[in-house]
Amino acid sequence: MTPSVEFRVGETPLVALDRLFPPDIVPVYAKLEMLNLGGSVKDRTAHYMVSQAIASGRLTRDSHLVESSSGNLAIALAMIAQRFGIPFTAVVDPNCAPTNRRLIEAFGARIDTVRDKDEEGGYLHTRVRRVAELSRTIEGAVWLNQYANPDNWRAHYNGIGAEIVRDMPVEPTHVVAAVSTCGTLMGLARRLRERWPRIEVVAVDLDGSVIFGRPGGRREIPGIGASRVPEQLRLSEVDAVIYATDWESTLGCRRLVASQGILAGGSSGTVVAAIAKLIPRLGPSARIVTVLPDRGERYLDTVYDPAWPAPERRLTESFDTSYRRLAPRFAAA
Ligand SMILES: Cc1ncc(COP(=O)(O)O)c(C=O)c1O
Repeated sequence: MTPSVEFRVGETPLVALDRLFPPDIVPVYAKLEMLNLGGSVKDRTAHYMVSQAIASGRLTRDSHLVESSSGNLAIALAMIAQRFGIPFTAVVDPNCAPTNRRLIEAFGARIDTVRDKDEEGGYLHTRVRRVAELSRTIEGAVWLNQYANPDNWRAHYNGIGAEIVRDMPVEPTHVVAAVSTCGTLMGLARRLRERWPRIEVVAVDLDGSVIFGRPGGRREIPGIGASRVPEQLRLSEVDAVIYATDWESTLGCRRLVASQGILAGGSSGTVVAAIAKLIPRLGPSARIVTVLPDRGERYLDTVYDPAWPAPERRLTESFDTSYRRLAPRFAAA
């Protein structure tokens, strides 16, 4: 089964963020992933995972996709599943934003909402248990599992990574990317290092995420960070991690739209905040390439609402604790 019409995912523009970050100090180039048809970088993940599963015969027109996601992946999978004519059920929890719920349903997918909290007080484990249950009870159920599926990072190795290698006007010294499943970061690291072996790979994580070994805590920006370590993270391939808080991310989004006219999602603001922390540490010939993961309309009631977040959540971190080197790969070079 192959799609009869070419589907528009990827080939996003690579632009210079030259008003936000003056190029005479450190030039910063960004892939505008909000210009994928479904509005986020997850269109690539969904399209690649589904295409590969179809090519291998794991997914057919008699299948039924099941996935635990209430954000961009569910929206992207709903769009791709609709396109391929495969039914899709998104397992979500009560925290799923009403706009996302409506988008998922507008693309024709079904929503299954879990209501019971798990032993850690969240919904992650309850959602995964529900996916397992649906996988047993729905005929032809297929769970592509973005956290553990290698086609997640391969989507970005073959997608954003290949496009950056082809389109960068200068050699980048640093690639900076937000992490959740770590698919984007791993795919970029592998593809860009093939072309530029000395490039530094910098992860951007949200304060309160456990991915790089910090204790978990409250996080409000969706799409970035995780409450468990994703299977596909390989720490040895990451040089450094930079953290930013919800509030720093919010300010990053507002600076991005004020300076560049780009209305991006919350994690793009985290990336902007992280790059602002990174630049003072870099030498004169540094050049950064990054990814802005999604568009901003879904965040009008949060990061673009002047009253958000609550005053007690307007936290900034000290510079020293928000940057951490991981692997001394080039220390002696
Ligand atoms: C808005 C946003 N930012 C960043 C990411 C991080 O991407 P990844 O899961 O590839 O680490 C995602 C993934 O869902 C996302 O939706």
